[in-house]
Amino acid sequence: MILGIESSCDETAAAVLAEGPRVVSSVVASQLDTHAKYGGVVPELASREHLRAIVPVVAEAMERAGVGYAGLSAVAVTEGPGLVGSLLVGMTFAKALAMAHRLPLIAVNHLEGHIHAVVMEARLEGREIELPAVALVASGGHTHLFAVREGYRYELLGRTRDDAAGEAYDKVAKLLGFGYPGGPVIDRLAPYGDAGAVPFTFARMKGNTLDFSFSGLKTAVLRWFESRGMEAEVAARRELSRRVGRPSVEEWLTVTPPETLDLLASFQAAAVRELVRRAGEAIETAGGRALIVSGGVASNAGLRAAATERAMGCPVYFPTPALSTDNAAMIAAAAFPKLACGAYAGMDLRAKAGLALA
Ligand code: KG4
Ligand code: ZN
Repeated sequence: MILGIESSCDETAAAVLAEGPRVVSSVVASQLDTHAKYGGVVPELASREHLRAIVPVVAEAMERAGVGYAGLSAVAVTEGPGLVGSLLVGMTFAKALAMAHRLPLIAVNHLEGHIHAVVMEARLEGREIELPAVALVASGGHTHLFAVREGYRYELLGRTRDDAAGEAYDKVAKLLGFGYPGGPVIDRLAPYGDAGAVPFTFARMKGNTLDFSFSGLKTAVLRWFESRGMEAEVAARRELSRRVGRPSVEEWLTVTPPETLDLLASFQAAAVRELVRRAGEAIETAGGRALIVSGGVASNAGLRAAATERAMGCPVYFPTPALSTDNAAMIAAAAFPKLACGAYAGMDLRAKAGLALA
């Protein structure tokens, strides 16, 4: 069994996995309520919340798994990428546990974790993902396309040059008064608008055509916002959030006129179109036999509807919601192949904010 620890952003998480890999216990403490009022993650507050949560979260994962430290084979921890102050909390704790209980320490790249969440779930359903596969990892911090080759070797095919996909959702939601995180709200409201109403276009990429750029889309929404005088409705939505905390779709609809729903629908359609198109090109380039979609944006209903096996020309794998956002089960899952080949980290392991996977 492996204990996994994840603290790269705003979730403190610990999980125990058995060989397979199979999730025995998984605990996630979200800091959403701490950061929501600031419209995004505040790094200093994140570090402090991780410090508060790390001991009880790990204790609960161990207790629910019903194993003692003597029953573990290793401790796995996220090495990066992420907020360095946040990463440090999980890493220091993992090192201390490994040292105290004489267990090997395994370093895991956060993005590799997101990919392994999907590999693990497919395997549990009796499906082995054929390699080479293409992985689209899209979250609040990343929008990357990788080729996943035999032995879980990775090749970077493309990445965002500016905003991540989830970040674009979050910024648009913040601008329009829908609070944080923006992805889930826009995703749930998009079906109420006309996706063809606002014609958003993307600039052609110079250089690597598999790279993404979402800042143009975000700016287009800002221009639209400025030209329409939406201040009153935005104020009404902010007031609604203040009053009820996390409004329901019905509540949002009472303060969101049809034109704004059209804007959201058009934004979502453009973002999804861009993700699907580049993923399709990546499959062609890498000779991909499967598409793995992971990261917080993988929960997007529009993306799930568009990236079908028929559209992509190969099997497509999405994680269940619990494993699409940050968690520690994916970190432990990614550690099993490393345990098998003795790829251990030393006590000099360091947290790396900008760690690359390939
Ligand atoms: O993977 P994750 O939990 O944390 C990061 O590593 O960033 O992803 C969170 C991001 C946020 O930007 C959030 O707005 C976005 O994923 N997100 C979504 C959806 N659910 C979460 N974006 C679009 N549609 C969704 N349904
Ligand atoms: Zn993540």
